[in-house]
Amino acid sequence: MDPTRRQALALGAAAAAFPATAASLPATPKPSLNALARRGGRRFGSAVGTGWPGRGGGAFADPRYRRIVEGECGLIVPENELKWSWVQPRPGVFDFAAADRLLGWASAHGMAMRGHNLVWHHPHWWPAWVTSHDFGARPASEAERLLTTHIDTVCRRYGARIASWDVINEAVDAGTGEMRETVFSRAMGGRPDDVLDLAFRTARAAVPHCQLVYNDYMSWEPGNEKHRAGVLRLLERLRKRGTPVDALGVQSHIGSGNNPGDPSIFGPHDEGAWRRFLDEVTGMGYQLLITEFDVNDRGIVGDAAARDRAVADYAKAYLDLMLSYRQLGDILAWGMTDDRSWLQERPGRADGRPKRPCPYDAQGRPKPLRAAIAAALAHAPSRHRA
Ligand code: XIL
Repeated sequence: MDPTRRQALALGAAAAAFPATAASLPATPKPSLNALARRGGRRFGSAVGTGWPGRGGGAFADPRYRRIVEGECGLIVPENELKWSWVQPRPGVFDFAAADRLLGWASAHGMAMRGHNLVWHHPHWWPAWVTSHDFGARPASEAERLLTTHIDTVCRRYGARIASWDVINEAVDAGTGEMRETVFSRAMGGRPDDVLDLAFRTARAAVPHCQLVYNDYMSWEPGNEKHRAGVLRLLERLRKRGTPVDALGVQSHIGSGNNPGDPSIFGPHDEGAWRRFLDEVTGMGYQLLITEFDVNDRGIVGDAAARDRAVADYAKAYLDLMLSYRQLGDILAWGMTDDRSWLQERPGRADGRPKRPCPYDAQGRPKPLRAAIAAALAHAPSRHRA
């Protein structure tokens, strides 16, 4: 093919992917998911990503994606832009440019922004400089200095403009239910709880009015028993020590194929065990949030329509249960359109087709999952009921 023609085709494809003006984009259905959530005293939101450096623009560069979020959401959360590796890519060098762009856009459209996350307590997710950092002769105080500087700097930078923070993400090992060790916990004498206490206390001091959240992915599918038990034990210890934690963020990456050993089709999920888990959490006085909702259809066989139906039914049952808790506040999806979902980069489907885990499809059309979320929100008991 001659280069001019190739270029013309590429431009055509780009134009189709990113329609020229927002005005030419279809409006999202009314009432919006956020309007429906508001009726129950909640908000609906989504993650929005600007894309990894060098890997394209991400969802935020796509006017169609922005239009869907503006139409449906009352709040957003940066998909990656507030994580340690973005905000402090080199020791002592802070970069808030990407998060600021998202916050500016959210504010201009009347949306709030929550913060994710101050400490991703998982060995895999630190920037390389942290993993290879020389903690010196007094490792505990060096670890404390790094943690408090980071949390204090980031929290104070945004102050009241971010009213809810995932202070700690994923500290419990899903396979064993034990606490994960990180470079910081090792430097602090092998006591991961000390890292959590320090993080929450530092955040509380920096932004006293902010909702402070422990966020994790324990779920209702079989195979999550140890993870749930471990999170419960952690939440009990945090309460006992008076660590300032207001809420449990239930990530809610539900469905099939998220974890090794997951069943290849949906269910059977254990509603009883999940309710007992949520009862214990709320019984300790914690609020709940859904922070990263999506439905992995990796294991569902069938055409798009059959998969969409199964995803929607599964989501409806899950959301109905979650919404029966008055302690449940904001609900955020981890992406609004299938093509932008992080799950496309995770292990794929046996038939090689893209996954369909989000409320909108790759063409920006609402799916049965969007209707299921709307129905669950519309019929949810108000969290402020007498
Ligand atoms: C994911 C992002 O979506 C990806 O872009 C990134 O490469 C890895 O992290 N649980 C979390 C989120 O708490 O931060 C993760 O986000 C998804 C799982």
